[in-house]
Amino acid sequence: MKNIREILREGVDTRLGAGSGDKEPSSRGVVCQLCQDRGIVLEGEVAKPCTCMQQKKLENRFRYARMARSLMHCRFEQFNFEYYDSIANPSHRANAHKAYAAAREFVENCEARESAGLGLLFIGPVGSGKTFLAACIANALIERDKRVLFLVVPDLLDELRATFSNKGEFSEIDLLDTAREIPILVLDDLGAHNYTEWTRNRIYSIINFRLNQQLPTVITSNLSLEDMENYLGDRTTSRLLQMSRVFRLTCDQDIRLRKYQEREGLTKS
Ligand SMILES: Nc1ncnc2c1ncn2[C@@H]1O[C@H](COP(=O)(O)OP(=O)(O)OP(=O)(O)O)[C@@H](O)[C@H]1O
Ligand SMILES: [Mg+2]
Ligand SMILES: [Zn+2]
Repeated sequence: MKNIREILREGVDTRLGAGSGDKEPSSRGVVCQLCQDRGIVLEGEVAKPCTCMQQKKLENRFRYARMARSLMHCRFEQFNFEYYDSIANPSHRANAHKAYAAAREFVENCEARESAGLGLLFIGPVGSGKTFLAACIANALIERDKRVLFLVVPDLLDELRATFSNKGEFSEIDLLDTAREIPILVLDDLGAHNYTEWTRNRIYSIINFRLNQQLPTVITSNLSLEDMENYLGDRTTSRLLQMSRVFRLTCDQDIRLRKYQEREGLTKS
């Protein structure tokens, strides 16, 4: 997957063939039989964009949002509430319904530009669907032509550290600016990383900027609010609460484990 630097270097270019993952028509043979990869087709005398351009644009939008391949296919319609069924604890399913409804409402608000900048914070144990729901939001917005950036926090911190140490072409400021200013940001896995004073400051600066600019942020985290305060500091946590609606996803069993059992035919029925 591309890193932020590569994206910045290329700019947001939706031309056919833009981006390193694309096939070079000349070297790999023609991909689109309709337009021979020219991107346009002739209808009589009139040149029109070929249908493959739409697909290409969509693919590029996913790429520029940095959606991981495995998350590109997450859709609200696939959200399965059965994973939250629990005889002992009916609140699991109720929690999932609340989080799901808030996620859909968030997308609608972003689309209608009615959002007052309030974001979402999904917390809960490992494998409870936090990232899945955040990816559903991101994908729905990308398809609606919104500018979204999906950042996995540990990877972001690694990249920031790398730019800091090698003083490369793109400075730390570029990376941070992108995260600060993108209209819709997803921060996945804001967890118990090895925070240093330096990384903690970087997270703070993203959060503080977005709060002040009323730019919505969707965050997923394994941490309880209490732990968040310990790891991120009270200034960041306090701002997160101001700018987010908090939802807790809970289930009896790690959904990854459930899926494994389903896949291997280990479920009792
Ligand atoms: N409601 C759901 N319906 C269908 N599949 C789901 C649902 N929730 C999660 N999954 C699937 O379960 C797996 C784990 O979900 P996910 O990655 O969202 O968990 P998580 O809460 O982010 O876990 P972690 O804290 O480890 O990051 C993924 O394969 C995801 O696609
Ligand atoms: Mg996750
Ligand atoms: Zn074509």
